[in-house]
Amino acid sequence: MGASPDIKRKPVVHVYNHTEHAHWLPAFADLHIACIHSDATIVAFVSPLDPNKVIQYWEERAAEVEAGSRVTVFALSGDGKELAGFVSLNQTMTQTQPFVGSIEKLLVSPNHRRRGVARAVMEAIERIAEERGRTVLTLHTEEGSPAELMYPRLGYLEFGRIPTFMVSPHTRELKGDVGFYKILSSHGTRWDARTKP
Ligand SMILES: CC(C)(COP(=O)(O)OP(=O)(O)OC[C@H]1O[C@@H](n2cnc3c(N)ncnc32)[C@H](O)[C@@H]1OP(=O)(O)O)[C@@H](O)C(=O)NCCC(=O)NCCS
Repeated sequence: MGASPDIKRKPVVHVYNHTEHAHWLPAFADLHIACIHSDATIVAFVSPLDPNKVIQYWEERAAEVEAGSRVTVFALSGDGKELAGFVSLNQTMTQTQPFVGSIEKLLVSPNHRRRGVARAVMEAIERIAEERGRTVLTLHTEEGSPAELMYPRLGYLEFGRIPTFMVSPHTRELKGDVGFYKILSSHGTRWDARTKP
């Protein structure tokens, strides 16, 4: 049986708010596990996976959203029933890089790939980053992964590579890291060198 027309509709993007969205956390964990199982995505855990630890991980990220150091954006399928993907902005406070944000945990469900979900959540998180004055964004991904091909399509530029930087979740092989950055359009005009920290 094919996907219903509602599922095929454009994904709907939400900004995670713990009061309204806490019931989606087990789905965040399921999607995270699905990416490790189906793509060997290097994202915090290696197999064998303990689903409770992955749920706990997302509860901790939700606490960071509550504390204001993180923003998480997620997309639901057009019918609102399935989590299609998500991404986070880590906005750790420093006085020397108050305009730098780190893009983390971009994961799209294997059931919702190549339909613009990554682009939709990335555009949403960049709009939020810009509103909050986080106008220089950095991120890391695995060398040789599809994501390495995707980020330049979203306007990200490579800043360097680190070989043997992380452990593949199933084989335990060491994999290289590629770093990307993007300077959002308002960066030059927004940051005033005279502003005191
Ligand atoms: C990589 C990933 C996030 C892409 O998500 P997606 O929703 O399928 O991507 P989109 O449909 O929004 O595509 C965005 C752009 O990237 C390109 N793209 C997406 N997947 C690609 C792939 N496998 N190879 C090459 N380009 C790709 C698309 O063509 C599109 O560019 P275009 O609009 O200029 O044509 C998804 O495959 C995924 O979650 N993979 C496993 C987890 C992962 O690697 N996450 C990144 C961790 S840093």
